[in-house]
Amino acid sequence: MSEAARKYDLYGHDFKRDPHPTFAAMRRDDPIYQQPGLNGTTPIWFVTRYADVDAMLRDKRFVRDAALALPPERIPAGSPLDRRLGQHMLNADGADHRRLRGLVSQAFTPKRVADLRPRAQAIADALLDPVVGRGEMDLITDFSFPLPTTVILELLGVPIADRDRFRAWGNALLEPPMTPEAQAETVRQLTQFTDYLQALFEERRRHPRGDMISALVAADQAGDRLSEDELCSTVVLLIVAGHETTVNLIANAVLALSRHPDRRDALAADPTLMPAAVEEFLRYDGSVERALNRWAAEDVVWGGQLIRRGDPVILILSSANRDAERFERPDALELDRSPNPHLGFGKGLHYCLGSPLARLETDVALTTLLARLPNLRLAVPEEELRYRFLPGFRGLEALPVRWDVP
Ligand code: HEM
Repeated sequence: MSEAARKYDLYGHDFKRDPHPTFAAMRRDDPIYQQPGLNGTTPIWFVTRYADVDAMLRDKRFVRDAALALPPERIPAGSPLDRRLGQHMLNADGADHRRLRGLVSQAFTPKRVADLRPRAQAIADALLDPVVGRGEMDLITDFSFPLPTTVILELLGVPIADRDRFRAWGNALLEPPMTPEAQAETVRQLTQFTDYLQALFEERRRHPRGDMISALVAADQAGDRLSEDELCSTVVLLIVAGHETTVNLIANAVLALSRHPDRRDALAADPTLMPAAVEEFLRYDGSVERALNRWAAEDVVWGGQLIRRGDPVILILSSANRDAERFERPDALELDRSPNPHLGFGKGLHYCLGSPLARLETDVALTTLLARLPNLRLAVPEEELRYRFLPGFRGLEALPVRWDVP
């Protein structure tokens, strides 16, 4: 298949700016549709209706571990760097998934996460203190990137002084390189990232502290130690999943509120609306557009289509979240929507481990922004905003905002 064979553009700038007309057409005409993915050749099944996405996320015939679905000769060998990055829970199913998730899940329970609120609040306030009097900032660089990044790095025990290096490393992991030069640069960045972490693991092995990296380094669950690759991959997953996503959810929410000043003012006046509002931001413009691709572990007939063993399948969460079969007035931002069974954190085995932390950070971030920055609004015409080239994620490059300085 060539790129021209793609019926629906799921990658371009116009699509990113407003993907919903495309998703609406797919839900109506081609709810389970196979077309080439990003490389222009590999055919991928795209699934867009809520009922299908919800059910497939819970169906054990769709797996993350390619080894369960592909014959050995079709499984990419993977470089040592790939193994240092990819041996984590989100790439595993069954017993390995349970072991890898079990090792860190205690740190992310709602109770443990609630204890982090005062610290998250202090970080949010410290970030706003120097900019409040300025009347404008780039919301992402000045606030929504450093807030969740600081929280996850502190939790893990990574030195905060190195915080900004993680922005380039996170990009390298998520932005697909489209040229050989970009490919080489990605390998260089990711080698730096993993070398940095290996050195930190060595340090914590010699001098353990009360942080999560020390606990993981010492992990010996039922005699089942983490391998060196699993340790590195798990920490990379937590760092990247722990900030790229929340950074963008906070920014997408501020953009949505700038389009709806009445709702921004209502939320500023009554912060008790915030927990329901955070759920609605996850539904309306969540930061994870698609679940990571699954493989069919056997032939499956679904919605009249034959999905063959080994076929890749992508479940589009942002489309499911706007499906009129599941949500009334799906394109409206209704901050008190209830119930709100959105799929912004996925579903089933891989349901977001960090969801309590993401909810807490987004709540603290938005409450603090609205309390301290009156009349928060966009500082540029909306047409100037650009989305990052991150297939599967919804993240702006920058979000210039301004407010009334008292
Ligand atoms: C707004 C913020 C966030 C969103 C929208 C989000 C979304 C998601 C989604 C959709 C998945 C499932 C992916 C799939 O099934 O393919 C997922 C998994 C995961 N998320 Fe999040 N996430 C967020 C924040 C976080 C945070 C703060 C952390 C951790 C510190 C985190 C850690 C994880 C992990 C470890 C997994 C894999 C779970 C597993 O495989 O069992 N996420 N997330």
